[in-house]
Amino acid sequence: MKVTENFLNLQPYKPGKPISETKRELGLQEVIKLASNESPIGPSPAALEAIRANASEVYRYPDGSCFEMRRALMEYFGVEADQLIFGNGSDELVDILCQVYLEPGEAILTSQGAFSAYYISATSVRAKTVYTSLTADSRFDLEAMALELQKNPKIKIVFLPNPNNPTGTYFTDSEFEKFMQVAGNKDVFVVLDEAYVEFVRAKDYPSGQGFQRRFKNVLLLRTMSKVFGLAGLRVGLMIAPPEVIDLMNRVRKPFNINSLAQVAVTAAVQDRAHIEKVKKLTWEGLDFYYSALKGMNLDFLPSQGNFVLFDTGRNGEEVYQALLREGVILRPVTSYGFPRHLRMSVGLPEENRAAIVALKKVLS
Ligand SMILES: Cc1ncc(COP(=O)(O)O)c(C=O)c1O
Repeated sequence: MKVTENFLNLQPYKPGKPISETKRELGLQEVIKLASNESPIGPSPAALEAIRANASEVYRYPDGSCFEMRRALMEYFGVEADQLIFGNGSDELVDILCQVYLEPGEAILTSQGAFSAYYISATSVRAKTVYTSLTADSRFDLEAMALELQKNPKIKIVFLPNPNNPTGTYFTDSEFEKFMQVAGNKDVFVVLDEAYVEFVRAKDYPSGQGFQRRFKNVLLLRTMSKVFGLAGLRVGLMIAPPEVIDLMNRVRKPFNINSLAQVAVTAAVQDRAHIEKVKKLTWEGLDFYYSALKGMNLDFLPSQGNFVLFDTGRNGEEVYQALLREGVILRPVTSYGFPRHLRMSVGLPEENRAAIVALKKVLS
């Protein structure tokens, strides 16, 4: 059966290499994974307790409306019930948005070096992806994006991960304000993907919810996979106007959020102390990485996420393979346009130290 070029050229999303696979393939006993920007200490103990307490109920279908989880998240975000839709990971919501709002031949706009899920979702509905270049310091060029938006009427959705993965860079409040002066009047959606928002330390980071109150076409994506430590349960959410949520709900699978995920998220968002603990650990880990990388004379991009992108000074794939043999999994980023770089997530302090020891060894 013939398929179009779009699909033939599509490269599948390459996740971080699993620990079990690395142990199996390389015959290793101990492996440290710092490849998927996961929480090093996992979810709130209250979330784990909720999973245990509800495990015997898994023979029943989950609550398709996610009543309790929705209430907890309404309170967390200060939004109404009809402004929220949940996805099996926020990546499912990118899919649904593209299904509802893109016609074949229309386009999304994002930046080179941006998280790749948007391109895959757009391609799956036969839409195109328009990319602007990164700036010299590997940040999104919002001015170029605004120009592109003005000249290309095919663009219907703009995807802006802020901070971005894998660069860890962000755009500022004033840069986004200027962008919205153009995009705010257009018949396009501007999706702010704030997967890493909790880790941001920059004072001039734009408040997505603040912009959303002023511009009806700003949609927000959040995830339970990062600071909440629930990546394996797959829960993401979108905050959007009720009419958008209503249309997206028509496409969403009725039971896309499983019952254990629902009780875990409900407990996790209420444990503010745990969230603060993860943030503190992340910032300490990042600061440790910065000083270690400086000590090794390796360039890196200051990060607003829970990971850092650094320049190995040589072929990144080769350094990645050498690190695997040392039992450390990082993430190669050649497909994002960084053939010499690797992305390293913040882990536990002892994991961070071990990763730096291994890096020194393979680079020496
Ligand atoms: C920018 C960005 N958005 C979204 C996600 C995915 O989140 P989820 O696990 O909710 O699908 C990631 C995961 O790495 C990410 O880096």
